[in-house]
Amino acid sequence: MTEHPTTDHLTTSISTTGNPGAGTPATQLLAPQPLAPAAPALTLAGARIVVLGGSSGIGLKVAEGAAAEGARVVVVSSNGARVRAAVETLPAGSEGRTADLSEEAAVAGLFAGLGAFDHLVYTAGEALSLSPLDGLDIAQARRFFGLRYWGALTAAKHARAHLWPGGSIVFTSGTASARPKAGWAVPASICGAMEGLTRALAFELAPRRVRVNAVAPGVVRTPLWRGMSPQEQEALFAGEAARLPVGRVAGPEEIALGYLYLMRQPYVTGQTLTVDGGEALA
Ligand SMILES: NC(=O)c1ccc[n+]([C@@H]2O[C@H](COP(=O)([O-])OP(=O)(O)OC[C@H]3O[C@@H](n4cnc5c(N)ncnc54)[C@H](OP(=O)(O)O)[C@@H]3O)[C@@H](O)[C@H]2O)c1
Repeated sequence: MTEHPTTDHLTTSISTTGNPGAGTPATQLLAPQPLAPAAPALTLAGARIVVLGGSSGIGLKVAEGAAAEGARVVVVSSNGARVRAAVETLPAGSEGRTADLSEEAAVAGLFAGLGAFDHLVYTAGEALSLSPLDGLDIAQARRFFGLRYWGALTAAKHARAHLWPGGSIVFTSGTASARPKAGWAVPASICGAMEGLTRALAFELAPRRVRVNAVAPGVVRTPLWRGMSPQEQEALFAGEAARLPVGRVAGPEEIALGYLYLMRQPYVTGQTLTVDGGEALA
């Protein structure tokens, strides 16, 4: 996994303007919230957003999109060099942290040192490999579940006290749950679990005025597929493109728009937003 089992503060040029939540003690945020909700912000400008898995692919594009709207972003992943490289592409005031999100102690340490924030995005996932039951590596399947499902649940557990009322969590699912193929048992199961978790936490966190949603992408061109050879990747992408109404596989910036929408949209909770190029019709 990683040589950084605990958090490592990489960049500290935090703006002191915008939402004053950074540094607010958790006990203050856990105090009873006012009955009359504040007017919804409808914008990410001034918000503080933590992107777990933000050093690459979809998460990095969410961080870029949010920062372009005036949000202050914190990107987190397990590899310090990748986090530093991501922070360098983001506007001044962006932050990076290193944490192995499959370890609860690292997740707890991360949130204990972050201060308060408005939105949490979870896109962490290691390189994926697909396998039919014959030859399925169960230990590896457990690791895939460990980061994508248990990591997301653990992050929600430890982030909860630090989320401002009016904020949200956006998890990651995928179309594999609703439209599985042979050999996709593990990703399909993870996606199904993520959608149930999203609905359950939408109720559990509603009293704190925190919404919980998920995005379900179809196949996206990102480093996630690096476990396959370039030829295998292109064959996968070509096969998908041929059957999709949009005629091509998405780039991560297109999927990121779904996360940005769910953070901005104050009237949606417990939903999984499918962003699949029409795969559901194919
Ligand atoms: N790409 C697709 O076709 C597709 C389709 C449907 C769903 N999804 C899902 O979307 C999510 C994002 O995928 P992506 O395509 O954006 O992949 P990606 O480009 O590989 O990004 C994955 C991110 O997770 C981080 N990560 C990996 N292991 C970690 C760990 N132990 N602790 C903390 N961070 C870790 C990676 O950074 P480090 O390596 O530096 O830790 C990276 O920032 C995944 O859950 C994936 O399953 C992807």
